[in-house]
Amino acid sequence: MSEAPHSNDKATMDDLLKENRLFEPSAEFKKNAVVNDEGIYASASANPQAYWVEHAKSLEWFKEWDQVLDWKPPFAKWFVGGKLNASYNCLDRHVKAGLGEKLAILWEGEPGDEQRLTYNDVYLAVNKFANGLKKLGVSKGDRVAIYMPMVPEAAYAMLACARIGAIHTVVFGGFSVDSLKGRILDADAKVLITADGGWRRGKIVPLKQTSDEAVDGCPCIEHMVVVRRTENEVSMQDGRDVWYHDLVADVADFCEPEPMDAEDVLFILYTSGTTGKPKGIIHTTGGYMTGAAATTKMVFDLKDDDVFWCTADVGWITGHSYIVYGPMANAATQVMYEGSPDYPERNRFWKIVEKYKVSKFYTAPTAIRAFMKWGTQWLEGSDLSSLKLLGSVGEPINPEAWMWYHEQIGKGRCPIVDTWWQTETGSIMISPLPALVATKPGSATRAMPGIDVRILTDEGKEIDKGGGYLAIKSPWPSMLRGIWGDEQRYRDTYWGRWPDTYFPGDGVKRDDDGYLWLLGRVDDVMLVAGHNISTMEVESALVDHQSVAESAVVGITDELKGQAIAAFVILKEGQNGDDAMTAALKQHVAEKIGAIARPKNIIFTAELPKTRSGKIMRRLLRDIAEGRALGDVTTLADPAVVQSLKDKYGDS
Ligand code: WT7
Repeated sequence: MSEAPHSNDKATMDDLLKENRLFEPSAEFKKNAVVNDEGIYASASANPQAYWVEHAKSLEWFKEWDQVLDWKPPFAKWFVGGKLNASYNCLDRHVKAGLGEKLAILWEGEPGDEQRLTYNDVYLAVNKFANGLKKLGVSKGDRVAIYMPMVPEAAYAMLACARIGAIHTVVFGGFSVDSLKGRILDADAKVLITADGGWRRGKIVPLKQTSDEAVDGCPCIEHMVVVRRTENEVSMQDGRDVWYHDLVADVADFCEPEPMDAEDVLFILYTSGTTGKPKGIIHTTGGYMTGAAATTKMVFDLKDDDVFWCTADVGWITGHSYIVYGPMANAATQVMYEGSPDYPERNRFWKIVEKYKVSKFYTAPTAIRAFMKWGTQWLEGSDLSSLKLLGSVGEPINPEAWMWYHEQIGKGRCPIVDTWWQTETGSIMISPLPALVATKPGSATRAMPGIDVRILTDEGKEIDKGGGYLAIKSPWPSMLRGIWGDEQRYRDTYWGRWPDTYFPGDGVKRDDDGYLWLLGRVDDVMLVAGHNISTMEVESALVDHQSVAESAVVGITDELKGQAIAAFVILKEGQNGDDAMTAALKQHVAEKIGAIARPKNIIFTAELPKTRSGKIMRRLLRDIAEGRALGDVTTLADPAVVQSLKDKYGDS
């Protein structure tokens, strides 16, 4: 499939899991697809700059660039000298093209309230918000922090910043006082936009109260803008705080969009990963918008009449690229939902799909595994026939979860796009183009056109088959431009391993058909008797067992083998974690992928420690399995989970 590069150097990571099921898109899907010419891969790799120029031209520029790429590793500049505005590209040009009455956002609050907003509505709101921010003294280059529930005003706030050239930094509404404070201080933000609260599982998340406590330690904040959402009692500080509805009550309906340089910063987004101080990832305007817009259209096969739904929060990069900038640059109609998937019941997502006739649905493996655990009875009574394509992002999706998604949600009809990318990459890097690539359950398939993916060994040698380190050899438009305030960390983290090559920190393997399989973070790889074993493969073998809903495996010290595998397992509802089950699961892994990967310990649990974006924190599981004191737990979604695991298992 891919043009295999050279060399047969020994693979760095073991390749254990074999998966040969193949799913072709239907003839009808192929015929009508946005991209259905296989030649796109070859032409993009023959001339990547020409390929990206074509995508850049689907945006509207106030001034065209003088130079496509200026690459002085590790610093790239794309579309140098070009001028554009992200908010103009998401709104003004659609309104001018006569799409003002097209629905932009079908918003549903958790309590069931709704708003159907057209491009005209969003355009007006963003213009007014932009004028409001100006009134507060915000101007080009200033940083604005956004700490919001999933309400339309969160998107307005981002686009209003983009309109006047202010740099937004969105902080996920589930983060704590300290996380919010740390990010505001690092970005040196002047204004914080928040809400009185947001709804989550029937309760109010007290965003304003958290904001007050955070801003207490932030002398940089001059004003706080507060959106009224939950109407709970909040305290407003005179002179500092202003209600959003008051701020925009008496401003003009139009705000001139600031002509931004292609390389002017559009936003900073902090990524905590699983360790260390959060990094403020910098994205600029021209390249980021090009990548976000192009991938939305190609990967999701976006058509005029689609109803797109990305279930991420705007606090994550997925929400930036595939709720705000990508879909809106394409004048898409999309669903935006405020709350939790299990409120008031575990069928909420499917009720939303049915109600709004969602056609393209994009979610995370952690959600899919939760649906699997809850059982298919929650799908009964919801009509999912509007769905045409399904997407996955955030973690490797185990083959069994993929099959479940395919059969139960997609009813066998919908191509699945498993999309690998990162906060740092800005847009999707590895994914099938749904009409061109037959899918295999659990494989993200191949690099997107124009993306130069390689597999390297420990020594930096390239291999064409087997497992190793994922590397990206050439710059791409939506790549990060740095870490806010820390150039050295940018060099060390991403460019320090091999010369002029981007290191994402993930393991990957390529199979005999040229398909790529993401293997998880390289920091999590287990070294058992001299074999590098990926967490993803052992977890997939466990989830392949009929009784298992989810699992996470870690390497623990073993005198004999260097490391042995400890497996944390969540059973499906109604299953019993007894000795017979333990034996059966060990045996299942040994049969499925080999005796080398047989877990030494199996620990049954009801929950796994996850970050707030749903990624399993294996570092903490290692601490628990080795009976160590817990490391940094500040990024955990629910600290009680590790404590209960530790109480149960930690000191044995
Ligand atoms: C890390 C990036 C990109 C949006 C959401 C997460 C993992 C992401 C996949 C996938 C296997 C994946 C990687 C990556 N990841 N998508 N389809 N298959 N792994 O953004 O928080 O910056 O996390 O998520 O480990 O490096 P992020």
